Amino acid sequence: MQIGPYALKNNLVLAPMAGVTDRPFRQLCRELGAGMAVSEMVSSNSLLWGSEKTRRRADHAGEDEPRSVQIMGADPRLMAEAARHNAARGAQIIDINMGCPAKKVCNVQAGSALLRDEPLVKAILEAVVAAVEVPVTLKIRTGWDRDNRNGVNVARIAEQCGIQALAVHGRTRADGYSGDAEYDTIKAIKQAVAIPVIANGDITTPEKARAVLERSGADGVMIGRAAQGRPWIFREIEHHLRTGERLPEPGVAEIRDILLGHLRNLYAFYGDYAGVRVARKHIAWYSKGQRDGAAFRARMNQTDSVEEQLAITRAFFDRLAEQEELAA
Ligand SMILES: Cc1cc2nc3c(=O)[nH]c(=O)nc-3n(C[C@H](O)[C@H](O)[C@H](O)COP(=O)(O)O)c2cc1C
Repeated sequence: MQIGPYALKNNLVLAPMAGVTDRPFRQLCRELGAGMAVSEMVSSNSLLWGSEKTRRRADHAGEDEPRSVQIMGADPRLMAEAARHNAARGAQIIDINMGCPAKKVCNVQAGSALLRDEPLVKAILEAVVAAVEVPVTLKIRTGWDRDNRNGVNVARIAEQCGIQALAVHGRTRADGYSGDAEYDTIKAIKQAVAIPVIANGDITTPEKARAVLERSGADGVMIGRAAQGRPWIFREIEHHLRTGERLPEPGVAEIRDILLGHLRNLYAFYGDYAGVRVARKHIAWYSKGQRDGAAFRARMNQTDSVEEQLAITRAFFDRLAEQEELAA
């Protein structure tokens, strides 16, 4: 898939997820097969730019290209400023969030709430595209609600404004995360525009990725929640799309090694204090469905020490690996 000057190694994209897609997680997903990883959102409110959180979010040291940074807001002038600010700090693609349904976001008329106001969408997109040299991409939902699925209109506006790729989550803003994502509106969008369209929503397996690509005709797929605790889903999808076969699930020993590496990168990125805390949710995701996982997670939440977190994690997966060997 091509986005502006960037030829991605494949058409698999890690979805931006605030609080999840930090640099360590993006790098891990790229290593395990994602062609691109969109960084979590940066507010267009410049009052926040000096904060530790925003500074960390804009830290791309050592990250694979292209580095895509998402911005969000409802004021064209502030969005243009945010785009310039991030491009100056190394963003190679600016992604605009019009897909987030969070109340906090929609109350200030940003994220997917903007889909209701097509003239404002146009004003924001024009302002951001004019503000930076780098390609600008857009992430939307299929519409405001089921009676107002205006995704095709918004896609046309986006193309006219110079947006270079469009990710579409197959739900409306009103759907939140309930119900199943649908891909027919994504298909209609794909047919309406010539820019790359990336299908998103409920893609949880390689087979589903293939089915969504076939059904929608989209150029690529974007994976969010299914990559939590399973960053290797990208190589599984890549393999399946290439060969039609399913890669075997990673063994427990490999999962252990991936997780331990992930934890070390989290400590290095956040420092020990915050790193241990951020790591807990990832550890919980990796251990979901594993035998005695609940007791392991409870124990994990009681420790604040890097050494202990590493040791408990190693011991848990070592024991699972032994059981796996015995069963083999
Ligand atoms: C924890 C979490 C945080 C998210 N944060 C963002 C965000 O900052 N920007 C955005 O455009 N979408 C955000 N999303 C939406 C995802 O990018 C994606 O569109 C959605 O989860 C559907 O894809 P999935 O079914 O593969 O998870 C978030 C989703 C989750 C679960």
